[in-house]
This record gives sequence, structure tokens and C-alpha cells, in this order.
Amino acid sequence: MSMTEEDLNAFKRIGRIVGLTIQEMAHHLEPGITTLELDVIGRAFLDKHGARSAPELVYRFPGATCISVNDEAAHGVPGPRVVQRGDLVNIDVSAELDGYYADSGASFGVPPVAIEAQQLLDATREALQKALGVARAGLPIQMVGRVVENFARDRGYTIIRNLGGHGIGRKLHQEPNFIPHHYDRTEKRRFVEGTVLTLEPFLSTGAIDVTEQSDGWTLKTPNGELSAQFEHTMIITRGKPILLTEVV
Ligand code: CO
Ligand code: CO
Repeated sequence: MSMTEEDLNAFKRIGRIVGLTIQEMAHHLEPGITTLELDVIGRAFLDKHGARSAPELVYRFPGATCISVNDEAAHGVPGPRVVQRGDLVNIDVSAELDGYYADSGASFGVPPVAIEAQQLLDATREALQKALGVARAGLPIQMVGRVVENFARDRGYTIIRNLGGHGIGRKLHQEPNFIPHHYDRTEKRRFVEGTVLTLEPFLSTGAIDVTEQSDGWTLKTPNGELSAQFEHTMIITRGKPILLTEVV
């Protein structure tokens, strides 16, 4: 896609709103709050900025945001679950404004955080940085999986293979479809300048895939393994990607 100044400004607007929504929700994350109460905070923040929840708009997801706890990796449905001390909580927000989409996620430990969980969080944050380092026009998309999986393995973690990054823009999910964060020898595409996409490695204490639960949404690890994720929406350039959802 060729990007106009208007496109760029629109992506920056929705990217910032999505980043700030996660920050606002994280600010209220503490023992005793329910995931539904957190979601209400996220929804109110999106509303205030004129943005609409993308999962609700696009997939009729039963919530404004996805909140996944401990062995839930993604697409957790907000509800009566009460956040406990020591929980690992992933907040994933995607939203639309003026026809432009952005998507970001982050995992948080609720103090006191076990050392095992803290190390997983630190490694996952670093894994996203590794991915960003090779997200550059002309480079093979395969390099993301190579650097992320090697890094994770060195730290003793696995990559969840059936979750991946994705193109985003005037739709929540678009080309390039499914960007693996594990090494995939069949992945032959290259990054193209001006593409808007997400990178979002999920590291785990042993799981290599997640399965849908009976609610039809929540994706869980098979044996209670922990999972963490960090995600940004970015524009691919010939240099460093422009991070749209990073709030500084
Ligand atoms: Co997301
Ligand atoms: Co995403």
C-alpha cells in the first residue's frame, strides 16, 4: 500500500489510542478487579477517543478487549474472573478510528510476581525487540521466526506456533497473513516498505500451540503452561520500523 500523509496521521492517531488504552487498563490492574471491570475501563477509554473495539466490530467478540490470564494465551473473554496476586495478565487491544486499525498487546504480572513469571515476561519483551530488529524492507520474513525462536530457546522457552503477526490497515487482519514467530523453512516472503503489520511473539514455559476453549474464543495452553505476549503495530521502512502503538 502506498501511504499518504493522511494515512500516516490516521494510523498514528489510532495507534496512540490503542497504546494508551492498554496503559489505562494496566493502571487499574490489581488484585480484586474482575476482567470485566478492566474491560469496561478499556471500552470507556476507546469511547472517549471516538474509537471502536475491533474484535467486537469485526468478529462480534463478547468484549471490547481481550484479557487472558495465566495459561490463557489470547482471546480471553472479559467476565467475572477476579484477578489474583501473582497472576500473569495479557491485555490485547485492537481498535478502529476513521477506517484505520491498530492492534497492540502486553502482558503484566500482578505483584507479587513469581520469579518464573517475571523471567518469562522479561524474555518475551526482549523477544519482541529481537523481532523488531529484523523487521525491515527487503529482509526475509523468516528471519523474525529465526531470531525469536533462537532467543526463546536459549532462555528455555517455547514459541506458540499457531499464533502469529499479521498485516493490518483498513482491516484488522489483512495481507501479509500469519507471520510466524518460530522458524518456518517454508516462509519465503520478504518485508515490503510501507506495509503496516503487527509482530507479537507468544513465549511459553513449554507450550507449542494453544487450543480454543468451549466458550468458542479463549485460547489456552494444553497443560497449564504460562504464556506471555507483547505486540506492536508498525510501518515497515528501509530502516527501523515506525512503531504506531508505542506510547512514550
Ligand atoms: Co492483538
Ligand atoms: Co494482532
